[in-house]
Amino acid sequence: MKVLFVASEGVPFSKTGGLADVVGALPKALAALGHEIGVFLPRYRGTMAGRGLARLASVTLPFPSALKFATVEDGGESNGVHAYLFNSPQYFDRDGLYQAHGQDYPDNAQRFAAFCLGALEFLKRSGSPPDIIHCHDWQSALVPIYLWSLYREDPFFEKARVIFTIHNLGYQGLFPPSMLAAMALPTSLFTMDGIEYYGQGNLLKGGILYSDFISTVSRKYAEEIQTKEYGCGLEGVLVSRKARLQGILNGVDYDEWNPATDKLLPANYTPSDLKGKETCKVDLLKRMGARNPQAGRPVIGIVSRFATQKGFDLIAEITEPLMAAEVYVAALGTGEPQYEELFRQMAARYPDKFLVKVAYDNTLAHLIEAGADMFLMPSRYEPCGLNQIYSLKYGTPPVVRATGGLDDTIQDFAGQTGTGFKFSEYSAEALIGAIERAIEAYRRPNIWRKIIKNGMSKDFSWPQSARQYAAIYEQLAKGGAAGRGLAAGHVPE
Ligand code: ADP
Ligand code: GLC
Repeated sequence: MKVLFVASEGVPFSKTGGLADVVGALPKALAALGHEIGVFLPRYRGTMAGRGLARLASVTLPFPSALKFATVEDGGESNGVHAYLFNSPQYFDRDGLYQAHGQDYPDNAQRFAAFCLGALEFLKRSGSPPDIIHCHDWQSALVPIYLWSLYREDPFFEKARVIFTIHNLGYQGLFPPSMLAAMALPTSLFTMDGIEYYGQGNLLKGGILYSDFISTVSRKYAEEIQTKEYGCGLEGVLVSRKARLQGILNGVDYDEWNPATDKLLPANYTPSDLKGKETCKVDLLKRMGARNPQAGRPVIGIVSRFATQKGFDLIAEITEPLMAAEVYVAALGTGEPQYEELFRQMAARYPDKFLVKVAYDNTLAHLIEAGADMFLMPSRYEPCGLNQIYSLKYGTPPVVRATGGLDDTIQDFAGQTGTGFKFSEYSAEALIGAIERAIEAYRRPNIWRKIIKNGMSKDFSWPQSARQYAAIYEQLAKGGAAGRGLAAGHVPE
């Protein structure tokens, strides 16, 4: 089957979070199943910086006020997956992917409108229609929205089906109605049954309504988002499409994330020989600037976007009991200024224990996975979460809140079974309780080794999830005309 992924970030070209890891790895796993997979991404300032790339096509973007023009460049082929880079310097040659100085770019909706039009026009230029267009999050939601509206009569796309994967319901791509026309969207879409949402345009809502199938990145999150607590205001829309909604757990790419082969570590290790992990811990404490490092003290690792989603306000509430517990915290992250400030303040207050780097640093992210003893993710909500799965492989038992993919991937340790420590209630008491249980287990070496081994033996590689996506592609392709645009409020399901 011919499939084009359309996404706003993907390894190795661009990354701010787990979406990029998924877009880097899932296509490879699908190509290995025999599908013809392309990946369409924006070319940002940092993408293949300084390299001249072969131009594959020039595309015309049919904006109503004036036509705009962009090029699509060849990102090369790797593991059977062809990458296409949408080059529009006006929109994408900027320092950040989505924001600067903590503020979203005000023209984000137009930027990704250009990107989505570019994807559709590029497909047309290529001459052969895809069977499936696989879109991800609000930035590519305009693909199904345009197919439903602007391109509705285009015979080229008659057989193409769209699957839309929600990686995070918290980011919806809101824009003022005054921008509709500039984005080449008809006002008829701006209704409660369409993309209108409390007076604004909502691209994620359109992605959910106008795609042929919707998936999200864990089974539990697929259930949660149909409730008021987790639905971010879109629970009603999701419930109306639940017959076409499925949770498929993300896999991880063990070519990138495996302590036995990881080239970014000072030493490698395996479940049967963990010596290299001790070397990584020593190196981590040094790199994070620990004075008089104490190897016997457990290190609690954090690698994260600093966002409200991730639950770090709870950490502020447990600082005192946590620091009384003789542990190190080794935290790496960037994001919302208030959390960056919070971590900086903790580091200033407890310089011997709270080790913080406010930065984006892939090598250090790998070193924390390997050198920490346990890994902390107290998320308010977590669609899937990848770091806890990496942590299992790196022998770094996770302490997580039982939500979304964290709940689906981690089993609480009890008796001899389990891979980490879970708490349910979003509260400081529940969090410190789980951390204390983890520290207690860490002090009992036989038990701790057992938990490490349980986690390291888990397999979350992509093929199984890729097969689930492939099954949906096939079902959609077989669905004929009935599969397309079955939007709630338009055609009953
Ligand atoms: P999310 O996508 O919500 O940010 P995930 O757990 O799915 O959460 O994925 C986060 C990914 O981003 C992981 O690969 C993680 O290592 C990486 N990451 C997050 N913050 C940083 C950082 N400051 N430096 C390096 N890598 C980071
Ligand atoms: C999102 C989610 C995260 C998920 C990632 C990849 O950014 O916050 O939980 O793992 O996408 O699907």
